[in-house]
Amino acid sequence: MLELAIRAAREAGALLLDNLGRRIEVSHKGPIDLVTEVDLASEALITSLITTHFPRHAVLAEEEGASGAAAGAEYRWLVDPLDGTTNYAHGYPCFCVSIGVERNGEVFLGVVFDPTRDELYVAERGGGATLNHRSIRVSETAPLASSLLVTGFPYSISEEKFTNLDHFHDFSLHGQAVRRDGSAALDLCYVASGRFDGFWELALKPWDTAAGALIVAEAGGKVTKFDGGRFDIQTPECLASNGRIHEEMIAVLARRRS
Ligand code: IPD
Ligand code: CA
Ligand code: CA
Repeated sequence: MLELAIRAAREAGALLLDNLGRRIEVSHKGPIDLVTEVDLASEALITSLITTHFPRHAVLAEEEGASGAAAGAEYRWLVDPLDGTTNYAHGYPCFCVSIGVERNGEVFLGVVFDPTRDELYVAERGGGATLNHRSIRVSETAPLASSLLVTGFPYSISEEKFTNLDHFHDFSLHGQAVRRDGSAALDLCYVASGRFDGFWELALKPWDTAAGALIVAEAGGKVTKFDGGRFDIQTPECLASNGRIHEEMIAVLARRRS
């Protein structure tokens, strides 16, 4: 499974890179929520590799939803064929392929590939996390005031009551700086590799976090809900950090709890 996940992420990543900057067909899932023909081609490539090699496994992929074996299968693959579609459609080189695999509902394998930097992040539950086959650890940065943070906003930002702009404001004042890079899976990998110290986001999907959350945890970081409660990939909110600034981040998030 690990071998196939890496192969699928690398082949899909190559496809993304080949088409970067070409005139591509873009459709809208919502006013600012895009899907390109490349998202669809990448997903078809990954899904077909999985169903060919593991016909008894289920797949949940962002664009086409469920396929492969029926729900309830022992193994389920969670696939984001292009995380960072808005960046991709603008030619901004910050995007990746994210693949997680669950066994009986628990993610045990995560692979994220950034083709623009040729960076492959891998984690197996209990086996640590790697970047290009070298072991990675979260940063040791503390306190929050010295920390580089990252977040993202949902496509539905203009229609939501809770937009995350309030937290963005608060963390901008309490952290060293806040970035908004546009790929939640890569944001999580950057927490795992110590480039960022903390990440939070309000409304994510299982394919955004399946691989990245495991990679952070296996790199020694902490992943929870905003109040410190247990995170799982069905939980839309995600707080991930190096562990050392986690309590401070929870306290900042709690300032806006209504
Ligand atoms: C999006 C990116 C973005 C995050 C959004 C996601 P997509 O995924 O991860 O960083 O802020 O919430 O939906 O649509 O590019 O796969
Ligand atoms: Ca995504
Ligand atoms: Ca996507």
